[in-house]
Amino acid sequence: MDFSGKVTIVTGGALGIGGGISRKFAEKGSKIVIADIDLDSANMNSKKIEDMGGKCEVIKTDVSKSEDIENMVKFTIEKYGRIDNLIQNAFSTGNFSEEFSGSAMKVSEEGWDKGIAMLQKAIFLGAKFAGKELIKNNGNIINISSVHGLLMSKNAIVYESGKSAVIGMTKQMACDFGPLGVRVNAICPGHIVTEKMEVRWKEMPKGLKFFEEQYPVRRTGVPEDIANGVAFLCSEEASFITGHSLVIDGGLSIQLQEDFGVDQAKYAQSHDVEFPY
Ligand SMILES: NC(=O)c1ccc[n+]([C@@H]2O[C@H](COP(=O)([O-])OP(=O)(O)OC[C@H]3O[C@@H](n4cnc5c(N)ncnc54)[C@H](O)[C@@H]3O)[C@@H](O)[C@H]2O)c1
Repeated sequence: MDFSGKVTIVTGGALGIGGGISRKFAEKGSKIVIADIDLDSANMNSKKIEDMGGKCEVIKTDVSKSEDIENMVKFTIEKYGRIDNLIQNAFSTGNFSEEFSGSAMKVSEEGWDKGIAMLQKAIFLGAKFAGKELIKNNGNIINISSVHGLLMSKNAIVYESGKSAVIGMTKQMACDFGPLGVRVNAICPGHIVTEKMEVRWKEMPKGLKFFEEQYPVRRTGVPEDIANGVAFLCSEEASFITGHSLVIDGGLSIQLQEDFGVDQAKYAQSHDVEFPY
């Protein structure tokens, strides 16, 4: 897999899954633009990339703002003259504020609008503003959804709706962009231990163990697991794949729920379990 001469934008590319994607694409030869709301972390990841011999530019971007996304595209063209891959990943675990949590009866209309602006509208805007440039290069759009786009958690109307919508939008955009030479795919990660999650799990290692037990492969994920999938979907090897949502979750979501429930109950009975929530 060689992305030499290519240019890749990663929204939320400073930390976590996006941080891993930025480094993976740089390792494969792509020039990178990290578009992130957190400039300090973005600059730190950019330095890691430059230290590896890669090329990386940073632009402060809030993906919930149309003008920021338009600016991100203009900036990339000014710096590198082209866009090959648009990786739409930005959303923080830190964004799970009170205003996005809860059922339809609890979440305010304002909270809904703010959450959906990041989770769904940003995906539309990215394609809208970068589309013309991607078409010139037979490029790729990758949208980061979640297992939460497939299976629903309670009290999470905003996140679950947003991540489900990403899967639908990916299929829809693949229909429009396919004839223009651009492929559009999504990834549905299971639990990925990012820098932020590492801090949380250090405080409750038995909670992480309980999570790991739920995965047929008996581990949770790391950003590189997702970065590998994104790189594959953007590669020539995947040139006949579009509109697909690739589940990368160590088998979490394939299990029959009755068996799964019984296994978890047995595990909890025989271990000193710390429940993550
Ligand atoms: N970590 C997981 O277990 C997991 C599982 C499934 C899906 N996801 C999805 O993967 C993506 C990344 O999650 P993560 O766990 O790596 O998060 P993270 O919090 O570790 O990193 C998110 C990055 O996005 C940036 N960001 C947040 N809001 C932004 C905004 N409005 N505009 C621009 N940048 C913004 C942050 O500054 C940070 O650099 C998200 O879309 C998330 O929903 C994560």
